[in-house]
Amino acid sequence: MPGDPLALAVLGHGLVDPATPWLRADDEAVLRGRAAFETLRVYAGRPFRLAVHLERLGRSAEVLELAAPDTDGLTGLVEAALGHVGGVDAVLRLVWTPGAAGGPPTGFALVTALPDGLDAMRAEGIALASLQLAIGATARQASPWLLAGVKSTSYAVNMAAQHEARKRGADDALFLSLEGTALECPTSNVWFVEAGALHTPALDLGILAGVTRDTLLAAAGDLGLDVEEGAYPHERLTAAAEVFTSSSVREVMPVVRLDGAVVGAGRPGPVAAQMQAALRAAAARS
Ligand SMILES: Cc1ncc(COP(=O)(O)O)c(C=O)c1O
Repeated sequence: MPGDPLALAVLGHGLVDPATPWLRADDEAVLRGRAAFETLRVYAGRPFRLAVHLERLGRSAEVLELAAPDTDGLTGLVEAALGHVGGVDAVLRLVWTPGAAGGPPTGFALVTALPDGLDAMRAEGIALASLQLAIGATARQASPWLLAGVKSTSYAVNMAAQHEARKRGADDALFLSLEGTALECPTSNVWFVEAGALHTPALDLGILAGVTRDTLLAAAGDLGLDVEEGAYPHERLTAAAEVFTSSSVREVMPVVRLDGAVVGAGRPGPVAAQMQAALRAAAARS
């Protein structure tokens, strides 16, 4: 669930009261979940890798056949919303909707508080439950209408997967392909450490090209760690020395149980800690 709204800026209106509704009931974003969005981390009032998120928003909009996002307009909204909240750590969402029939599109920037308890979760590690998608590992990429790798506002399936994982006593879900290949989590990418090398599912599995994933790939290279992207049966993760997830909001989150089995030493491992430190260092440099 998004945290408390701290600021909202809407295209054509600028900074507005976040408690006031701004979407039209006949916007296809509302009626059919056909809109593109981005979620970014804000560190001390500064959005992390805004340009890269705007590029991904553009790619999502293209697949959804929405008008190209007004990048300058959205950047102005980000400045207005973040100017209002000051030097906080927060979550920033950018949403681009088709608007009412015939347009024009709507865009807004919403700043919310960070979810509670992220650092406590990171210190303890989380449990994942694997949930199978009824689709082969290569079919998602070959079927653009499945919107694999697209950040559309149709996230109800992802949220339902998180609910199912919680019912199974876990904190989050891990999506598997029909063959049992590890894909990604509903709102994060997944990684594992085996024989000292980092592994993460490849983008041609139709997973989201996570901005955090990209930051960590570069950081791992700089640190001289071996990194491999590929297609991995989920059993490799269960047997790994470490598993962790990566996302803008939760950053690097160690996984200590997978489907009830203990992962590695059963506590957050050194590589996850190293990657979290590298992510924070990248944010501090940006
Ligand atoms: C399905 C999915 N995979 C991965 C990610 C991680 O992406 P990022 O690192 O850009 O936040 C997200 C983020 O929301 C996601 O929804």
